[in-house]
Amino acid sequence: MKNKELTFSGVQPTGNLHLGNYLGAMKNFVSLQNKMPCIFCVVDLHAITVFKNPKELRENILETTAGFIACGLDFNKSIIFNQSSVSGHSELAWILNCVSRVGWMNRMTQFKEKAGSNKENASVGLYVYPNLMAADILLYKATHVPVGDDQKQHLELARDIAQKFNNDFQSKNFFPLPEPLIQKNLSRIMSLRDGKKKMSKSEESEYSRIDLKDSEDEIKKKIKKAKTDSLPIPEKLSELINRPEALNLLSIYSFLTNSNLETTLNLMKGKEFSKFKNELSDLIISVVCPIGKKIENLKKDKSHLIKILNEGTSRASLIAEKNIKEVKEIVGFV
Ligand code: TYM
Repeated sequence: MKNKELTFSGVQPTGNLHLGNYLGAMKNFVSLQNKMPCIFCVVDLHAITVFKNPKELRENILETTAGFIACGLDFNKSIIFNQSSVSGHSELAWILNCVSRVGWMNRMTQFKEKAGSNKENASVGLYVYPNLMAADILLYKATHVPVGDDQKQHLELARDIAQKFNNDFQSKNFFPLPEPLIQKNLSRIMSLRDGKKKMSKSEESEYSRIDLKDSEDEIKKKIKKAKTDSLPIPEKLSELINRPEALNLLSIYSFLTNSNLETTLNLMKGKEFSKFKNELSDLIISVVCPIGKKIENLKKDKSHLIKILNEGTSRASLIAEKNIKEVKEIVGFV
C-alpha cells in the first residue's frame, strides 16, 4: 500500500535563525504547507546533544516557534510542536539505534565537523543524533523532508534505516523511504566571510551570517563587509567557478528575486561589487526585517506561543502514538 504524502521537517532551537535556515529550508516549508499535510518540529532533543543553558533553551524553543510563524507557517494548517513533548521520538530513536550500524554512524560528516578534534569528549547523543533524526521522520511515516543540502547525508541514512527495518522485520513498505526536498539553485547558503563554509549559527563571527532579527543597519554593515574579490561581476556562470564568495552573494540575490543565476548575471554583469552590494542589502532588508519584527512581536506573547506548541503536540501525538504502537508490535514487544 502506498503511504499518504506527508511532509516532516525540523529546526534546532539553538539561537538566532539565519538567512541560510530561511532560504535553505523555511521558505520551502511555507510553500509545502499548501500542497500536502505538514509537520514542523522544534527539535529540542537534538539541541541538547551539545550542552545548553536551560533558561536559554526555553527562550530559544519559543523563539524558533515564533520564527516558524513569522516566516509564514500557518499553525491551523500545519502541525507545529516541540520534539520533547512527544515521547515517541525518543522511543523510536532507541529502536532505530538498534537497527542502525556503527559503520553508518562513522561515515557521518556532520559528527566529525561538530565533534572536531576532540571526539572522545563529544556526547554519545551527538554521535547517534542521525538516528534520532531518522526517528523524527519515520515516527510520522513522512514521505517528504524539506532540508538544506547540509542534511542530505542524514536523509540518506534515514532511508537506509527505514529500508533495513522493513527488511529485518519483514514488514515491506511499513516505513516509506523519505524523499529529501532540497532547493535546486540554492541548497547551501555560504558564510559571508568564507564562501567555502556554510552559513551557520555556530560560526563565531556575527559578520559571517545574516540573522533574521538583524536591523537594517546590521544587514547593511554585514553585506558591506562580506568578502568578495577585486573582479567585477562576470557575464558567464563559468567565470564564477573559482569565486565562491561572489557566487554566494549572486545566488542569494537570485533566490530572493525568484530568478535564476543567469538572469542575475545578465542584469548585473560588469558592475562593481560595491554597487551590487547596495542593491543586495536593500533586497535582504525588504525580506528579512519584516520577519524579524514579527518574531519580536510574537515573542512578547509567550502564552500564545506555548498554546501553539501544545495544540501541535496533541495533533502530532495522535499520529505518533498509533505508529509507535505498530512499531512495538512489529518488533515483538508485548
Ligand atoms: P538545523 O537546525 O541546523 O537547520 C535547520 C534547517 O536549515 C537548513 N540550513 C541551511 N540551508 C542552506 N544553507 C545553510 N547555510 C543552512 N544552514 C541550515 C538545514 O539544512 C535545515 O534544513 N538535523 C537538523 C534538524 C532536524 C531535522 C529532523 C530536519 C532534526 N530532525 C528531521 C529534517 C527532518 C538540523 O540540525 O537543522
